Amino acid sequence: MKYIIYPIVFLWLSILPAQEIELLKNWKFTNYDYGGAFQKDFNDENWDSVTIPHDWAVKEDFNFTHDIQLTMVIQDGETKPKYRTGRTGALPYVGIGWYRTNYEVSASDLEQKVQLMFDGAMSNAKVYVNGNYVGERPFGYISFYFDITKHLTPGNNVIAVRLENFSSQSRWYPGAGLYRKVSVVKTNKTHVKTWGTFVSTPVITKKSATVNLDLEILGEGNCTVVNEVFTPQGVIVAKSSKEIKIDGEQKISEDFKIKKPKLWDIKTPHLYNLKTSILKEGKIIDTYTTPFGIRSIRFELDGFYLNDRKVRFKGVNMHHDFGPVGAAFHKELFVRQMKKMKEMGVNSIRFSHNPPAPEALDICDEMGILAIDEAFDEWQIGKVLNGYSKQFDLWAKKDLTDMILRDRNHPSVIMWSIGNEIMEQYQKDPNDITSYLNDIVKTLDTTRATTAGFNSANNALQSGMASTVDVAGFNYKPGIYHKIREHYPNLKFYASETGGSLSTRNSYKFPVNFDTAQTKRGTSLNTELYPDGQPGNYENTNVPWGYSPYKEFASQDYNDFVYGEFVWTGYDYLGEPSPYHTAKSRSSYFAPVDMVGMEKDKFYLYQSEWNEEEEVLHFYPHWTLPEMKGKEIPVVCYTTYEKAELFVNGKSYGIKTKQKQEVPEFLAENIEKEASGGTTLAQLKAYAIVWENVVYEPGEAVVVGYDKKGKKVGQTKRVTSGEPHSIKIESEVPTLNKGEVAVYIVSVVDKEGNLCVLYNENMHIEVNGAATFLASGNGDPTNVQNLSKPERRLFNGQAVIFVKSNNEGAIGISVKSKNLNSTNTSLIVK
Ligand code: GAL
Repeated sequence: MKYIIYPIVFLWLSILPAQEIELLKNWKFTNYDYGGAFQKDFNDENWDSVTIPHDWAVKEDFNFTHDIQLTMVIQDGETKPKYRTGRTGALPYVGIGWYRTNYEVSASDLEQKVQLMFDGAMSNAKVYVNGNYVGERPFGYISFYFDITKHLTPGNNVIAVRLENFSSQSRWYPGAGLYRKVSVVKTNKTHVKTWGTFVSTPVITKKSATVNLDLEILGEGNCTVVNEVFTPQGVIVAKSSKEIKIDGEQKISEDFKIKKPKLWDIKTPHLYNLKTSILKEGKIIDTYTTPFGIRSIRFELDGFYLNDRKVRFKGVNMHHDFGPVGAAFHKELFVRQMKKMKEMGVNSIRFSHNPPAPEALDICDEMGILAIDEAFDEWQIGKVLNGYSKQFDLWAKKDLTDMILRDRNHPSVIMWSIGNEIMEQYQKDPNDITSYLNDIVKTLDTTRATTAGFNSANNALQSGMASTVDVAGFNYKPGIYHKIREHYPNLKFYASETGGSLSTRNSYKFPVNFDTAQTKRGTSLNTELYPDGQPGNYENTNVPWGYSPYKEFASQDYNDFVYGEFVWTGYDYLGEPSPYHTAKSRSSYFAPVDMVGMEKDKFYLYQSEWNEEEEVLHFYPHWTLPEMKGKEIPVVCYTTYEKAELFVNGKSYGIKTKQKQEVPEFLAENIEKEASGGTTLAQLKAYAIVWENVVYEPGEAVVVGYDKKGKKVGQTKRVTSGEPHSIKIESEVPTLNKGEVAVYIVSVVDKEGNLCVLYNENMHIEVNGAATFLASGNGDPTNVQNLSKPERRLFNGQAVIFVKSNNEGAIGISVKSKNLNSTNTSLIVK
């Protein structure tokens, strides 16, 4: 898939006089709570020099005492509190962080308006300029800004920020610090209000589209407001001009007709730009550009429609961290994640469970990915002791409003989620917060649907919470979609979280047992916990409320009115090593892609079901299983081909097909049996080709793919690996820009180049030239080596290294592991 980039637009944008945005990158930082650190003249000489984005906790050692939590997770069916560790990543995110920076202004700047903008500060930010308290914002995921003009003086100014994270503040690793951009925005006193434009496209036909602009201007006096619409190629196609008198604040609404609009869509994410200019006495004093897309969305009983075409969500949930790099937002790492997700066939993301960095939505716009922007994981009733429930009453309205104002021009955003698995479900939402939040959204945007993710389907349905939002999301309920439709025929819904089976890359556990035992409500029993923390890849172990991907596919296929699904999650993330809570693991096990961005087997399952352009033929396990010699194992193949044949050292195990179930056997007869835990072999066989009793012998396993007529169309093989012979370092990209982060994959291979999947030795890393070492990881949730030190154990033959470029030229990277070593100098910083 090629992404469309229009150089002319960038050229056009760069020559326009615009609101001036300056990034504040270089700061001083300390974790000590100096009483006077807010004062202008405070001496911060001994503090660390850091670059924003910065995550203070990710560089520290893992220690399970950092996040021991005594909790009872009612959603997991627990009835007694128990100690959990690793839930927030076992990293020291708790505590206080001070940041200080200098900012120069001229006397003429002070005739302007100067705003200080944070895209997210984790958390409880208190902001000071030259010793003056400017304001605060508790919520760590929200963008916020302050007008700091009156606190500035010509010359040097000091900006100081105090952050504080509490223990038991989060259910996952939240990150710590100024982990997203901080910028200063300079404008004329008369200017377009920050987030003050709202572009919508109410009427779209092949011939033309109506583009509506709602605009808010702040300032004084008589002005001319000029609005111009530019095509994706940068050609002006509509223009308006209006004389207005502003007295503090002025709202304007305009309609434009665009002929033959180029629609924003998944494969063709065309982006237009609307440029607003304010002129006084013929001179431009302010410009503000709003990128937007022309697209229609509809939410019908039989599905979601994009540009009048039914589109099912092939979605994943995404947490905000980048694994070993922590929560610090790097655009190129989000692009990396999204490329991998698109390769898997993903067309939509649910930003679980809080607003993402604004650039993440820019990237969704540019890559044609649908997005659910989610505000909260808690309302008034908490899930953790110091979570958002502590802030809800005072801040929820402002936080939700700001999320929508900031994000409502993104064509990728199709739904606003007001909450995930909200505890009010269990008490029939006594304060009717669902309506309260839903109404806030509706005052700001009626072009998109409101939604929420419900895990207690029955409670949410019976209390009316599910039907208060426009489209309901249900978490982990594939057994009852048909029953929900029967009992609530007017309810529109999708699966906001699915899956919950556990795996780590290239690990297998034998014998393979499928767990079918369930409680009366349908929660799975007997989830097997492996002492080494490696649950294997057969999708047969899961958290109690979880199940394999096959089960969801079967229910989605059967219930084609469900809008689709969002897998929990696309990438593994720091924290939530459920169900491995016992001081062993510190990152999650659920995703098809591990925490360092490498595919597990189930990546190919989703790819075979979702990616309409790729032919897929993948099988497992790998073929280096010395302990299984002469024993029987199941071999599983994920493929887009009709049939496949397995050969082990030349011996055929027969040609097989998938065995689709017309009516999946797990569909509940009773809506009260809402849980859907566990998985069966029959469910696996419906979406995979399975040879059940294959005698493992070292050598070579080959799978041949055939089409309907029996013609050979593909072949793939796995070979028993020999002795470790060399170590490969491969860069994921050929070049990068100064300041960007790049990723290398390190693999140990035998003489023939086969991956040595049993290699788990340590390696030492050195980076020189145009970059410095940033972090590394290996995808093993039990690996507790410090993420920011240049030592890493390879996990099943592989590991990943992140470097940050700081100069132009070649990057040199060397690794050494036992008697193997290697160097790569291919990557060039431009
Ligand atoms: C859900 C929850 C997610 C995550 C997931 C793990 O209940 O909404 O945030 O905790 O379970 O399975």
